[in-house]
Amino acid sequence: MQMAVCPMFRLASFLFLMSSLSVSAEPGYYGYGKPASAEEVAGWDIDVRPDGLGLPDGSGSVEDGEWIYEEQCAECHGSFGEGVGRYPALAGGEGTLTDDRPHRTVGSYWPHASTLWDYIHRAMPYTAPESLEDDEVYALTAYVLYLNDLVEDDFVLDRESFKDVVLPNNRSFFRDDRPDTSNTRCMENCKDPSSIVITSMVAAPPPVQAAPEPVAVANETGLATYRKACALCHDGGIGGAPTLGDAEAWAQRQKKGISTLMANAINGFQGEDGVMPPKGGFLALSNEEVEAAVNYMLEQN
Ligand code: HEC
Ligand code: HEC
Repeated sequence: MQMAVCPMFRLASFLFLMSSLSVSAEPGYYGYGKPASAEEVAGWDIDVRPDGLGLPDGSGSVEDGEWIYEEQCAECHGSFGEGVGRYPALAGGEGTLTDDRPHRTVGSYWPHASTLWDYIHRAMPYTAPESLEDDEVYALTAYVLYLNDLVEDDFVLDRESFKDVVLPNNRSFFRDDRPDTSNTRCMENCKDPSSIVITSMVAAPPPVQAAPEPVAVANETGLATYRKACALCHDGGIGGAPTLGDAEAWAQRQKKGISTLMANAINGFQGEDGVMPPKGGFLALSNEEVEAAVNYMLEQN
């Protein structure tokens, strides 16, 4: 039998789990898992910060980067960082940020070189992320900076020289220290909610084009019956059927007298042009419905 677990108990144990995680108390308390080893933590701890914290030992030159780039990156990002097809460009776009369609690249938009190092290290090449050696990442970062004219061709990137690299758009990024809301919560003598008025709204989507009003039809039964049982042949003159709206053809037929037309429509009729099946083949139709359809057809001329 399964025991229902009280939600409060679950919440309590969840909170306990959270707190025990953060203070890492008594590993193995729940009988599973093991403390992460220093190497395991290091495997996840790969972020590099704008001030360079997190950069590993190593270095790489623009020159070395060019080779690796051509081999592993150019097929998607282009030899000059221009981007192939829909793959992102890694260079260019200077001065376009205020355009209608800004061209955001490492050089024109990114605020920190650390993001470049981190991104390449973490995510590239696209099909084999985290496959690059640290020195290769240094070299590729140097080369992408070079493609953006931000360093010279003899530049070598390492933890020290990293500090000299300042991306052009760096100063456009700043910490937004505005509070999440500018209002303070009202706890007493608050406004009557019904007096609150919405003064601006998200723009409403354009109105859906209303379907055209159906044209008023006096003979609705006739129209409905026609559509269901007669249009099949009479809309397009199939099999010799007189076409709806062909005034001349219908004028000829009317000479037989309306009652004959009605009878032929109800009972079926073999003429010179073809076969008109009884009630168009819809034998469940009442005689009145078929007559209404005939009237409808005659009205359209
Ligand atoms: C198979 C194609 C492919 C290859 C090869 C490749 N990339 Fe990428 N790269 C991408 C795609 C796709 C993105 C965008 C990923 C996204 O937005 O999620 C990207 C994004 C990037 C970005 C961020 C661009 C931006 O402005 O957002 C950088 C930097 C980058 N790649 C560098 C490299 C480097 C360096 C190499 C070679 C080691 C490389 N890439 C190899 C496909 C590729
Ligand atoms: C399978 C095709 C077909 C369907 C469905 C059909 N008709 Fe006809 N209808 C014909 C053909 C073919 C003729 C002409 C026969 C001829 O004159 O040789 C005809 C002729 C007529 C005529 C003229 C009869 C006359 O004496 O000249 C009327 C009225 C008519 N149909 C009404 C209807 C009505 C009402 C319906 C629906 C309930 C309908 N038809 C459904 C094929 C069809």
